[in-house]
Amino acid sequence: MKKIPITIKAIAEELKVSPSTVSRVLNGQADQYRISKKTAETIQEYAHQQGFVPNQIARGLRLQKTNTIGLIIPDISNPFFAGIARSIEIESRKKGYFLFLFDSREDTGLEKESIALLMSKKVDGLIVSPVGISGTHLLKLKQQHFPLVLIDRYFPEIDLPFIASDNSRGAFEATNYLIEKGHKAIACIQGLPQAISNIQRVQGFKEALEKAGIPFRNEMITGTDFGVENGYTQTKKLLKRTSVPSAIFALGNMISLGVIKAIAEAGLKIPEDISLISFDEQPYSAFLSTPMTTVAQDKESLGKEAVNSLLENLSSQEYLNEKKLIPTRLIERASVKDINLIRK
Ligand code: RIB
Repeated sequence: MKKIPITIKAIAEELKVSPSTVSRVLNGQADQYRISKKTAETIQEYAHQQGFVPNQIARGLRLQKTNTIGLIIPDISNPFFAGIARSIEIESRKKGYFLFLFDSREDTGLEKESIALLMSKKVDGLIVSPVGISGTHLLKLKQQHFPLVLIDRYFPEIDLPFIASDNSRGAFEATNYLIEKGHKAIACIQGLPQAISNIQRVQGFKEALEKAGIPFRNEMITGTDFGVENGYTQTKKLLKRTSVPSAIFALGNMISLGVIKAIAEAGLKIPEDISLISFDEQPYSAFLSTPMTTVAQDKESLGKEAVNSLLENLSSQEYLNEKKLIPTRLIERASVKDINLIRK
């Protein structure tokens, strides 16, 4: 005989608390309503023992809310995006929302498929790091008044809310740092050429060269995507040039891993033989045999701001178009050599 599932009302009577307290705890809103940890744990434990299963669909239909957010990122295996996802999950849960996470694998078709799936799940809003060169499918969501915030990547030509790093400023400061250390022959290994994060980093790189009066030459920039293989193959080519650069600026975390591999295979050392600076701080940056100098993106703030921007959209009548750039931070370690000293 199928056991009749216990109700919120029955749990409340048994534990001598209000049904709203039970509902808030079981909907992950204990923090939001300042319900004590002890009370929340007691309710969770008893509900679990009694086999309570929340009827989210019924709740969703009643409230026209499911307290869920969809997150779509280009590469879940990339520590940068994993860090972003973690920050968004923590902030969402704190605000009583739960996450559906999709990996678009840098593929627009998968991104569109993920959006459709999430809409069918009646998520209350979407946070997307878009992968393509066109955001028209995302603009349609805005035209349907569906809450959406872009994170990390966006489309300047499209009026959609976004939270991203100040990539141009970060790349300018990194390149300026290399120049101050005496480097003029700097090679920039770029990521996905059409991604706005890459476009702005290249722009910052060029601006720093121009400010220092170093002529830009097209061959100073190579690269095809944000992967390890791109860093590896581009560095192998750079090391075969008649004039090898004195420094490499990798525009992404995974790119710099490929750079390190190619330099090691060539029997060269960082920074003795060639200097390296990487966009994106990663957990391993400080622990490499030569601790890496990096441009750190503030993953925590990016995630937090994206969630709060989305939740403001949920509660506002009109579409809020917040567009915010979060500063990056140059973390100086040991991968860049000061060659001014040699020049004297
Ligand atoms: O490694 C992925 C890169 O692309 C990161 O720097 C992030 O900013 C994304 O745009």
